[in-house]
Amino acid sequence: MINHLYEGLQVLESEAKPLSPIERLKAINGPLLSWYDSHARVLPWRETPEAYRVWISEIMLQQTRVEAVKPYYARFMEALPDVKALAEVEDERLMKLWEGLGYYNRARNLKKAAGVIMYDYGGQVPETYEELLKLPGIGSYTAGAISSIAFGHPVPAVDGNVLRVLSRVLESHEDILKQSVKKHFEELLRETMPKERTSAFTQGMIEIGAIVCVPNGKPKCEECPLESLCLAERHGLLDSIPYKAPKKPRKIEEKTVLLICSSKKAAIRKRPDQGLLASLYEFPNTDHYLTADEVREYLEKEQGVTVESVEPLGNAKHIFSHVEWHMNGYLVQTDQIPGQYLAVERQELQNRYAIPNAFQAYYQKLMEMLA
Ligand code: ADE
Repeated sequence: MINHLYEGLQVLESEAKPLSPIERLKAINGPLLSWYDSHARVLPWRETPEAYRVWISEIMLQQTRVEAVKPYYARFMEALPDVKALAEVEDERLMKLWEGLGYYNRARNLKKAAGVIMYDYGGQVPETYEELLKLPGIGSYTAGAISSIAFGHPVPAVDGNVLRVLSRVLESHEDILKQSVKKHFEELLRETMPKERTSAFTQGMIEIGAIVCVPNGKPKCEECPLESLCLAERHGLLDSIPYKAPKKPRKIEEKTVLLICSSKKAAIRKRPDQGLLASLYEFPNTDHYLTADEVREYLEKEQGVTVESVEPLGNAKHIFSHVEWHMNGYLVQTDQIPGQYLAVERQELQNRYAIPNAFQAYYQKLMEMLA
């Protein structure tokens, strides 16, 4: 016989009559809310959970860890404190504010959605799940998060953290990467989540997934308020749940990255306006590996500049969701920046042009050269 505290009542579960999934999920509400009250981390977007702030934080947090998001969030809020400022920001400034966070379409969609909010909703972020879902870049998770955290509506927000917690509590062996599984959990929570304190509930679920039922490594079950209700823990299945079907391997692309410098200026170029890292800036690069001699020959014969030196900078790797870039880099001193590139100074590189993280391994070296 196992006892669970459920909204002040004790829920008794016996081996002979286990709780149904609905009963089990209703039983997590009480312990989850009490735990959140005493364990929630103090985070900038929680101080005043106003819709705009919740929205921006949730979009930033989609692919990035809390600690990494904090400085971006502070900078973004200072630069663009409300929907109007976001709707009116110049694209290049927006990309610069987002530089390093990755998935740049998230930022472009933020601006698009801000335009719609200005135009169709008089500058007020809409409250309901259904209205939020119509906005560019807002899917079921973000719509649920904004509506429940900022407006107190009892709608679920199921992200990777919540999928992990729920699949373990319910002992679900389904593939959590499938949309149908996420939808199923959303439907269950819609039925079972509390009608009050929805902000604490949504954030509590996410918080348990982030700091107790952790994404990498062993879950801290001894700290978990849901331990006595968790079937995966009870049956020793924490290593196999959550289940994720193996993904197909990423495509590998080999590149040579050139830091071309000439009298304190460096060469950059704008990427095409479609596809991976669209419209961002990058260092010149080729779609295959080049030796130092080949780099010299390419720049002298095809780009008509005089190469003074070519220094190998070693290899670097960047992993995108479907592609990996395997790069080798060279620092090249030339008599002039080849005409097809933009010639930029250190200050401009720092303040104006957004260079994606994929080039991070070489960026610092260039900054030193331009100092
Ligand atoms: N990850 C996603 N959303 C979050 C939130 N609101 N607080 C902490 N971590 C999160």
